[in-house]
Amino acid sequence: MQILGGQLLLNDDGDRARIAPGFVRIEGQQITEVVEGEIPSSLDFGGPNALIAPGFIDTHLHLPQFDMIGAHGMPLLQWLSDVTFPAEQKWSNVDFARSMTRQALQQCANVGTTGICAYATVHHPSTLAALDEATMFGMRGVIGQVLMNRNAPENLCRESKQLIDEAAATIQAYPPHGRMAAAITPRFAVSCSSDLLSAAGTLASQTRAMIQTHIAETKAECELVNDLFDGVDYVNVYQQSYLLTERTVLGHGIHLSPQDRINLRDSGSVVAHCPTANSFLRSGAMDRRSLVDDGVRIALGSDIGAGYERSMVRVGRAMIETASSRGNVFPSAAQAWHQITAGNADAMGWSDSGRLAVGRPADLVVIAPDIPWTSGDVDPLAMLMFAWDDRWIKQTFLHGRKATETQS
Ligand code: GUN
Ligand code: ZN
Repeated sequence: MQILGGQLLLNDDGDRARIAPGFVRIEGQQITEVVEGEIPSSLDFGGPNALIAPGFIDTHLHLPQFDMIGAHGMPLLQWLSDVTFPAEQKWSNVDFARSMTRQALQQCANVGTTGICAYATVHHPSTLAALDEATMFGMRGVIGQVLMNRNAPENLCRESKQLIDEAAATIQAYPPHGRMAAAITPRFAVSCSSDLLSAAGTLASQTRAMIQTHIAETKAECELVNDLFDGVDYVNVYQQSYLLTERTVLGHGIHLSPQDRINLRDSGSVVAHCPTANSFLRSGAMDRRSLVDDGVRIALGSDIGAGYERSMVRVGRAMIETASSRGNVFPSAAQAWHQITAGNADAMGWSDSGRLAVGRPADLVVIAPDIPWTSGDVDPLAMLMFAWDDRWIKQTFLHGRKATETQS
C-alpha cells in the first residue's frame, strides 16, 4: 500500500482537467482510494507542491523508430524510403527487436507514459516479442504487426495471406481488451493493395481488434493514393475496406476535405493528431479546430520517430502551439492535460485508464516541479505545461509497479 499526495489532476470537468489538493491510495495494481481536500503530512510520494496525474497515453508511435529520431530535412515518402524502412529492417532480428522495445518502453515510462498505441514492423516474431516485452514491462496498450505488400523494400513486404494469418495469430495470442493487445495495422493505403486492406477490415470485424493506420499526412501521399486506387479518395479507400470503425485510430489527418471530415465523424473513427511529427516532416499544420467542430473524435500522439518528443506533455504543448499558429482559437492547457490523459483514454476505448478513480489500474505519474506553480496569478496548468522540465517526473507507476523497478 502506498499513499501519493499533492495536487491531483482530475478529469471530471468536461474536456478540461482541473487540480485539487488530495491523495490517492494504491494497493497492489489498483487505485483503492481518491480523496480531495487535505494533503496528508505523511506520504510515500508527493508533497504540497507535487502534481499526481494519471499516466499519459500516447496514441500514435512506432517502436522500431526510437533510434532514428532526428532524420531531418526530408518529406514523408523520402524519409520512409531513405531512413525509416532501413531502420525497420533491423527488426528481422528478434533479439534486437526485443531489446529495443524494452528501451523504448523505458523511455516512455521515464516521461510519464503508461499507455501506448504502437506500431511494430512487418516481422511477426518481433511483433510477438514486442507484445511480450510490453506485457512484462506493465505497459497498457496495443501493438500491431505492420501490414505491407507493396511500395516498400522487398524484404519488408509479404504476401497478403501470410500477413492476415500472422495478424490473426497475434490477435489470438493478445486478444482485444487485454491490458496489452494486438492491433490490426495496415501501414497506410500506399503500402497495401486493396485486397490486403479488405482482408484487414474483415479480420477487424471478426475479431473486434483495434485498427491503426495513417491517413492524409502529406499532399504527395494523398495524390499517390488517388493514383493507386483509380481516383478513389483516401477516406473512401479505407471506408470501402471496412477499416473505419469506432475502434480505428488514424494518424495525422491533415489534408482532409469538409466531406472527408463528415465521413470520418460518421464512422466514429479517431484521428490521432501528431503536431511534432507534422512540423518535423513539414507535412502541414493540422486544422484541429475544424475536425473538432465537425465532431471528429481526436486523440494526440508523439509519432516517434517522425515526432521528436517522447513526452506527451511536450506534445500537448505542441498541439496548443500548432493551433495558435493557425488562429485565435486554440485549446487551453487544461484541455491539453485532459487530452493526454482522459481524452486519449476515451479515444482508445479504455474505460480503465486516464483518470484518478477508485478501481482503476494504478497507472500514475508523480511530478515534483521546482517552481512555485500553485501560488501565483498564472493558470497553474498552463505554467506547468509551458515551464515543463522532464526531470520533474519523480516516479511513474505502471499497474502499481514503479517504472524504475521494471527492469529488475
Ligand atoms: N506513413 C506511413 N508510415 C509512416 C511512418 O512510419 N511515420 C509517419 N509519420 N507516417 C507514415
Ligand atoms: Zn506514424
